Amino acid sequence: MTLTGGEVGARGARENAVPAVVAKGLTKSYGRGDATVHALRGVDVSFATGAFTAIMGPSGSGKSTLMHCLAGLDTVSGGQVHIGDVELTGLGDKRLTLLRRERIGFIFQAFNLLPTLTAEQNIRLPLDIAGRQADQDLFDRVVETVGLRERLGHRPTELSGGQQQRVAVARALISKPQVIFADEPTGNLDSRSGAEVLSFLRTSVRELGQTIVMVTHDPVAASYADRVVFLRDGLLVSEIHRPTPQSVLDTLMKLEA
Ligand SMILES: Nc1ncnc2c1ncn2[C@@H]1O[C@H](COP(=O)(O)OP(=O)(O)O)[C@@H](O)[C@H]1O
Ligand SMILES: [Mg+2]
Repeated sequence: MTLTGGEVGARGARENAVPAVVAKGLTKSYGRGDATVHALRGVDVSFATGAFTAIMGPSGSGKSTLMHCLAGLDTVSGGQVHIGDVELTGLGDKRLTLLRRERIGFIFQAFNLLPTLTAEQNIRLPLDIAGRQADQDLFDRVVETVGLRERLGHRPTELSGGQQQRVAVARALISKPQVIFADEPTGNLDSRSGAEVLSFLRTSVRELGQTIVMVTHDPVAASYADRVVFLRDGLLVSEIHRPTPQSVLDTLMKLEA
């Protein structure tokens, strides 16, 4: 089944722009011989620029594998991945590292902040590593958006889990990546902090035109997205637009049946 970018819910999104991410015929197997696991069996999917997409599916359906292959964190067994106009699957290690640094942002379930750095230093770290200057207007907007103005001088241990994940969201936004991949970004948060982080992701799509692809198993989290795609046994089997928690749940129930 081929799934295309579909409608773009974000105001101001460029509907006809090149998709931020395209995967064609993506396969990924682990192991050899009798022990081979076919985690992805031929996934065709594209993610529109300026849209927020959630990836869902039962445990073991290939969500993390798909995200890792799309983000160049794992090699593919077959097929292609394009990030904008660059084929990621054709790159050697050096150029792949550069592409990840310059075009891709990550948000993980564990916040992955450096404990000795302040919130502000953590936010600026990817730009410092790349030798780039932060656009001060963008820095101010991002800090306002995620509500961290009063916390910039704090170290991670002095922040709540929700605040730490907001720092991680700000860090991903500040380098204006072509796409942000998030794997269960609210998995370690209580529902109130989770809702805050999800609204900031939603706002960054609407206000900054950010493209976001988020893996989640939570129908409420998925309902913040413009579109939800569903995996089962390593294949994309369904998608819905303008999801609600109920429509996501209904689709999941059908998949598990
Ligand atoms: N490093 C690995 N080695 C072997 N099998 C793996 C590895 N990573 C994932 N798998 C297998 O691939 C399938 C998909 O896993 P995964 O992408 O983690 O699913 P999900 O994130 O949807 O729970 C599962 O059967 C899993 O056991
Ligand atoms: Mg997973």
